[in-house]
Order: sequence, then C-alpha cells, then structure tokens
Amino acid sequence: MARRTKIYEGKAKILYEGPEPGTIVQYFKDDATAFNAQKKDVIEGKGVLNNRLSEFFMTGLNQIGVPTHFIKRLNMREQLVRQCEIIPLEVIVRNFAAGTMAKRLGIEEGLQLPRPIVEYCYKDDKLGDPLVTEEHIAAFGWASQQDMDDILSLALRVNDFLSGVMMAVGIKLVDFKIEIGRVYDGDFQRLIVADEISPDSCRLWDIETGQKLDKDVFRRDLGSLTDAYTEVARRLGVMPKSSTPISKPKLIN
Ligand SMILES: Nc1ncnc2c1ncn2[C@@H]1O[C@H](COP(=O)(O)OP(=O)(O)OP(=O)(O)O)[C@@H](O)[C@H]1O
Ligand SMILES: [Mg+2]
Repeated sequence: MARRTKIYEGKAKILYEGPEPGTIVQYFKDDATAFNAQKKDVIEGKGVLNNRLSEFFMTGLNQIGVPTHFIKRLNMREQLVRQCEIIPLEVIVRNFAAGTMAKRLGIEEGLQLPRPIVEYCYKDDKLGDPLVTEEHIAAFGWASQQDMDDILSLALRVNDFLSGVMMAVGIKLVDFKIEIGRVYDGDFQRLIVADEISPDSCRLWDIETGQKLDKDVFRRDLGSLTDAYTEVARRLGVMPKSSTPISKPKLIN
C-alpha cells in the first residue's frame, strides 16, 4: 500500500493528504507542549481523547449551524476534515480571567468578566503568538473587515454553545482558543471553525470544586492530564470505543 503524503507536522497533530481533493486527515498525537514548546512530554492516550472530544464539539457545532471543518472520524486517532486556508490568528474567547490575561492586567484568576472578551493573537511560534489588535489585522491584510465580523460572530456562537454544553455537566468554560479557516464554494468564500476544540485549547474548571480539567494540569504540574481529559470525556458521554459496552446483535429484516 502506498504511503500517505504528510503535509505538515505540528506540536499536537500531523496532517496528511485526504482521500478526496480538498480534504485532509488530522492525526492526533500524544505529545503535549506548553509555554511555546519549552515544556514537552508524551501523555499516553491524550491524542485519542482529543480526537473524540474535538469530534464531539465540532459535530455539535455543525448541528446547530456553526460551520466547521469536521467531516468524520476515521479511527481512534484520526479524523477527516475539510482543507482550508488557516487565517493566521488564534481567536481567544474569555468568560473568566485566567492565564496571560490575568497576568497582563493584574486581575485575579477566576474573576468573572463583565462580558465575553475576544482577543486575537498572531499565529507565529517564533514570536510566541503575540496579542494583536484589529488595526494590525486590517493593516497587514490578515483578514478583511467582513472576515472580522464573521470571525467575531463565529467565536461568540462557539462560546455560547461550549459554555452551555459544559455547564450541563458541571464544568465552567473559563476561556478557549479556536482557529478559523477560509474555504471556497465556487466563487464564494466563507469562514469555518478549523483545527481542534479540546481540553488542550480550553480552560475547564469543575463548577463545584474549581478543579482544573484542561492543559493547565500539564502546564502547572497539577497531576494526571489523562485523568483530567478522561473526566471531561466521561461527563460528556464521550468515551473511547474500547470502553463502550458492546451492543447486542440486531435482527435485520
Ligand atoms: N482544516 C484545516 N486545513 C488546513 N490546515 C489546518 C486545518 N485545521 C488545522 N490546520 C492546521 O494544522 C496544524 C495542526 O497542527 P498542530 O495543532 O500540531 O500545530 P501547532 O504545532 O499548534 O502549530 P501551528 O502554530 O501551526 O498551529 C496547525 O498549523 C493548524 O493551523
Ligand atoms: Mg495547534
């Protein structure tokens, strides 16, 4: 069998050419990195969990009419997605102060923000993904004004959806990051949610105890990252196939 063509290997995922033009296969690795890859480890099972969780969130978004790149899951570690031109921005939505925002503004972590705050960082590892304003984005042509309106609306819809899904299982959505891609349908271009949505890219705190159930467990050495992600998956009813009960055979007429 011919080997697949690798398009890109990042810190958390590998991209392969998909079976149809305009599709790619995302392979979720077990590698964990933090602080712009200064801290690294291999966390067994993380890729499997993130593949399932990203499938769960992207499928839900597709169902409520928020377009995403997700087409279907292929196996434990891979999903088929629509290829897009990634807009070079990390779009961050914050509901509570945490991480760099808390540090930058001298706000206590956990403070509820008066309203969701959307931030943009320029995607460039060498520069450490610096915070930018809409002025930079417009001046350097990374996205048009129409794109920015669409990105804001997508980000807030993702926030409402994820906040609700998490709230229902006793988890507070503190903040998250998404990437947005451009796709072309004939002469029309539109923007879709791409990359991944997983505990690697969200801050998730237990509502009752405040326990962290996201990548901060790794960043801050707070215990087992796999346990934290498994707990999120368990609460959402998203479990790796191997642990789901085998259903009885059904009679086919
Ligand atoms: N649908 C898509 N089409 C094309 N590229 C995509 C799509 N979804 C995600 N990507 C890109 O695939 C890569 C995924 O790999 P990974 O998340 O490991 O990258 P990374 O190490 O975080 O680096 P980067 O700084 O490039 O995001 C990212 O560069 C992401 O922007
Ligand atoms: Mg990434």
